[in-house]
Amino acid sequence: MLVLGLETSCDETAAAVVEDGERVRSSVIASQHDLHAEYAGVVPEIASRAHVERITPVVRAALREAGVALADLDAVAVGYRPGLIGSLVVGVAAAKALAWSLGVPIVGVDHVHAHLYAGLLRERNAGQQADHTLFPALGLVVSGGHTSIYAMESPVALKRLGATIDDALGEAFDKAATILGLPYPGGPALDTLARTPGANDRAHDFPVARLARDSLDFSFSGLKTALLYAVRGVPGPGERAPPLALTERDRADLAASFERAACAAVVLKLGRALAVQRARGLCRALLTGGGVTANTRLRAELAGFARREGLDLRLPPPRFCLDNAAMIAGLGHAVLAAGVRHDLALSAVPTTAC
Ligand code: KG4
Ligand code: ZN
Repeated sequence: MLVLGLETSCDETAAAVVEDGERVRSSVIASQHDLHAEYAGVVPEIASRAHVERITPVVRAALREAGVALADLDAVAVGYRPGLIGSLVVGVAAAKALAWSLGVPIVGVDHVHAHLYAGLLRERNAGQQADHTLFPALGLVVSGGHTSIYAMESPVALKRLGATIDDALGEAFDKAATILGLPYPGGPALDTLARTPGANDRAHDFPVARLARDSLDFSFSGLKTALLYAVRGVPGPGERAPPLALTERDRADLAASFERAACAAVVLKLGRALAVQRARGLCRALLTGGGVTANTRLRAELAGFARREGLDLRLPPPRFCLDNAAMIAGLGHAVLAAGVRHDLALSAVPTTAC
């Protein structure tokens, strides 16, 4: 079964063809980073206009790369929630037009849940078979907009156990990068700076928010403020502290120390969530996704956590960590297989479901 996936929830216009919910026949992503760079953040109106211009060529490129014609498609899946409303409507409208004109089913999928599907995808020619004995599993999504832990019975039956109460982890990385004077988008640049040879991740003891004893929620605003004060000094009452003179080495130490605290928070809450799940029964795997799972240090720490805990880790390759449409098509296949059908009344929804 061939599913075309469309993704336009934020600033990437993406289309992909996935076969039988696993094999990625194509994945095309048109990034808008250049359009938003001068504003150091995504400008919704610019994003939705760019999606309108790009969606048709991106779909054509995905079909060409997959070696399939429109008539070969069996269904169209689209990320319809959560995201920027003006961006989501472009993908939803395109998906409806395609599904209607081809006479195939349309299915809307949750973008955040789709990030958890990314680790179940196979590259076009990969030999490995998908493993259906991964569940029950824990899920972790760390992206620019979301930081959540899930209990998963399957890719389509999941319950959120905890989430950030303030900044998402990717947002914290991006803001930390801005504080350190790094270019937009900041997460990857901070990753590179933290890997400067000799960078000392213990130069600063930044806070790891534990919250209540049994809390599975995250908080990254204190970490961000601690970094700001380490860079600018702590201002006195009514005073604006001038920036400190930082060497390249100082900046690398700050980036590495920030990453150490951020990753410690993730591993701490995963440990708590795993204890809760194991008290209830089995937990076989850890499925992860979202842009921050492309981070070098976090990848190593997640691998270490899974090894220590005996969990099968599904950590997508970096191109499937970031926003893409292959994860949408893959989850779309699973949602259709679960018997869910949407129709042309499908609407974009800006908020998250759970
Ligand atoms: O999943 P994603 O592409 O979009 C959302 O759904 O939000 O995630 C984007 C986020 C951005 O905040 C970006 O800075 C962050 O992921 N990111 C990284 C890295 N690559 C992307 N953060 C840290 N290290 C990276 N290597
Ligand atoms: Zn995303």
